[in-house]
Amino acid sequence: MAIVSVDPAHPSAFRAAIAAAAREIALGQLVAFPTETVYGLGADATNGDALARLFEAKGRPRINPLIVHVENAKAARKLVVFNPVALKLAEAFWPGPLTLVLPKTAKCPVHDLASAGLATLGVRVPAHPVAQALILSAGVPIAAPSANASGEPSPTRAAHVAESLGAGVTVLDAGPCNAGLESTVIGFDGHTPILLRPGATPRSEIEAVVGKLAEASDDAAKPSSPGRLLRHYAPHARLRINAAAPEDGELFIAFGPTEVDGALQLSEAGSTREAAMNLFALLREADKRGAKAVAVAPVPEDGIGEAINDRLRRAAAAQA
Ligand code: TXA
Ligand code: MG
Repeated sequence: MAIVSVDPAHPSAFRAAIAAAAREIALGQLVAFPTETVYGLGADATNGDALARLFEAKGRPRINPLIVHVENAKAARKLVVFNPVALKLAEAFWPGPLTLVLPKTAKCPVHDLASAGLATLGVRVPAHPVAQALILSAGVPIAAPSANASGEPSPTRAAHVAESLGAGVTVLDAGPCNAGLESTVIGFDGHTPILLRPGATPRSEIEAVVGKLAEASDDAAKPSSPGRLLRHYAPHARLRINAAAPEDGELFIAFGPTEVDGALQLSEAGSTREAAMNLFALLREADKRGAKAVAVAPVPEDGIGEAINDRLRRAAAAQA
């Protein structure tokens, strides 16, 4: 596993590292790279062999479609057909942590494996300078799920990628991710936007632009987003959420000041933004400490808190 440090403040080294990574993408290899949400594991979205390698590396079920990353909305319009509401969202939030699930264009060059055979494709324009540079240099849309083995917490640092996926992948290291949680995923029923996955762009910001979001269905008979039904984000330790205090033998993850000895801390100051940045790293830390059971304090639902609670609920439910 090669971890390559990339820093836009050192332009010539930066360009060289990006060019080398783009060549790997062009050869059908996998490259892990930072986005503003979490680290992604990237592959040329037009190359079926590369995508097969990507599913294999993550141990990801092939029914779970990938998000395709492009440099701007113009590039996205070559892949998917926008409705007026989707256009508004793209204008308001791209580049940034928002994924739009839209019908593929007739000439969409993305391989069917990326969309898991669906007629729709999830597309996003990341804001991170390393993600932007890699997409531009590769000259192809880049499919990138979170760079973790399927089911584990997403990586928010380069070292997490190495821990999770082991040898064989280049990781571009630009330090910890800003948001720490994945993008918000929006699908459509006609022109009505549906919240498929709460994420780093808070619901309130989206609703301020396009009005109320419809809720996704968790009805197994008609999955609105295949990823919703799968085991997700779980540490190996048993997880109890909304815990006022730890019980015997539980490692406590606090939110705000705590008297509990040896507790891990999501955010001493009680900030949901800070808690989002720390969440996945702390779940990994609990495993590293060999904790058998973890109790997590209640986190408020406001802002990115909705996404934090979504991840915690899914992690806990995965173990039930
Ligand atoms: O922030 C992010 O979105 C990160 C970074 C790397 O960009 N990526 C990420 O990808 O979280 P992944 O594969 O871990 O999650 C993609 C989610 C899954 O829940 C998947 O089911 C959903 O998006 N999705 C993708 N394409 C879809 C489609 N055509 N229809 C419905 N859901 C889709
Ligand atoms: Mg993921």
